[in-house]
Amino acid sequence: MLNDTELMDKAKEAYKNSYAPYSNFCVGAALITEDGSVYSGCNIENASYGATNCAERTAIFKAVSEGYRKISVIAVAAKDGSCAYPCGMCLQVMNEFMKDGRILLEENGQLVSYSLNELLPHGFDL
Ligand code: THU
Repeated sequence: MLNDTELMDKAKEAYKNSYAPYSNFCVGAALITEDGSVYSGCNIENASYGATNCAERTAIFKAVSEGYRKISVIAVAAKDGSCAYPCGMCLQVMNEFMKDGRILLEENGQLVSYSLNELLPHGFDL
């Protein structure tokens, strides 16, 4: 099983494939499913802007489309070294598949771990 630092390294690897010609803001994400499988993803922008997919959702959708329903931890990294807090839409997708999961970010070069509840205290559920 990858440790937090190794998962963050995977997220940094993933932003190398980022397609971000409009914002030039390259993001990578890497996650671990409950059985230890690892998936990564990058942001994929679109000329319409609205069809853009964030790195977190790319990684989550890759895992879910392979049959996984429970994610334990996701790391997110921005190429420019800034801290890429997940957007509201990604947090809501995390609410679906990683309610008890952790989110790893780098704040000023320091690895920090948040619960989903800290970043999204009142996610929408049906
Ligand atoms: N973006 C992500 O991929 N993840 C985040 O956590 C924040 C934002 C992307 C979306 C868009 O391609 C670019 O960053 C600028 O918003």
